[in-house]
Amino acid sequence: MSRLRVAAVTGAGSGIGRELALACAREGMALALTDIEATALAETAALAGALGVPVISQVGDVGREQDVEAFAQACEAEYGGVDWLFNNAGVAVLGPAWLATADDWQWLWHVNVMGVAHGVRCFVPRMLARGTRAHVVNTASAAGLATLAGSGVYAATKHAVVAFSECLAHDLLQAGAPIGVSVLCPSLLPTGIHQSGRNRPAGLDRTVPPAAAYEERVRVGMAASPIGAAEVAALTLEAIHQQRFYVIPHAHTGASVERRMHRILDDFRAQHPPTAEGGPTAQP
Ligand SMILES: NC(=O)c1ccc[n+]([C@@H]2O[C@H](COP(=O)([O-])OP(=O)(O)OC[C@H]3O[C@@H](n4cnc5c(N)ncnc54)[C@H](O)[C@@H]3O)[C@@H](O)[C@H]2O)c1
Repeated sequence: MSRLRVAAVTGAGSGIGRELALACAREGMALALTDIEATALAETAALAGALGVPVISQVGDVGREQDVEAFAQACEAEYGGVDWLFNNAGVAVLGPAWLATADDWQWLWHVNVMGVAHGVRCFVPRMLARGTRAHVVNTASAAGLATLAGSGVYAATKHAVVAFSECLAHDLLQAGAPIGVSVLCPSLLPTGIHQSGRNRPAGLDRTVPPAAAYEERVRVGMAASPIGAAEVAALTLEAIHQQRFYVIPHAHTGASVERRMHRILDDFRAQHPPTAEGGPTAQP
């Protein structure tokens, strides 16, 4: 009898993580779920269990290597390994770049970047050792592909996730490993992300003062999203099946990415005008 495929999801208690877990369950996959919020995690586990698949769950902080390693060990002990890993947990703060506090930087880096780093460090070597087909999805954001006022710290962490995911894909390709990578880059959609502060550690509570203008922008952006977390999860699974790297669920993201790329290339061309030989890179 063939073994059940297994999906591990971080930040599985809410929003996109919960829907990724349920989408995998609907594919008949066994689940390993983790989140820092015990009650929310138990709710997702119950919803997934009701779909008839095996589920284990473990409370933990993705920014703590020992928690992620314990989660990876639990996956190994229960299922013998993981086929799809979703490094999805994330948090946000908004505000002018110069008002972001050192605590803002530390907290967002801890969760958004180190969470992904620990996920890769703890799971990918086990996937490599097993040698079977596997896939890693890192949740970044459209804020990892383009930038916006008020998103300095968040965008910096999400650009880091995009860059790290690209390098992970290069490394796995170079190693000839049968492990695919995707980076999920949604624009605003309604989840609990605007209430990220609920999980902020007490020791890192000095934050940029809330600004009504940013909060309104998030409220409007979430309400205007033509898709919810379930659609984002479905598109992500489709991308895994099609071995697509960038998962960009919102149609309007394209325009912001184009604007940013044009700005980069316009400034580049102003400094390196095309030559008669055909281009700034033409060599003698
Ligand atoms: N919702 C959006 O508009 C949006 C847009 C782009 C990217 N994202 C990204 O999607 C991912 C999921 O966020 P969401 O929108 O579903 O928000 P959410 O708040 O609904 O879910 C995030 C989950 O992560 C958990 N979490 C927070 N800190 C954690 C930690 N230290 N360790 C483990 N779990 C922790 C939370 O408890 C929560 O269950 C995040 O990486 C976020 O940055 C969200």
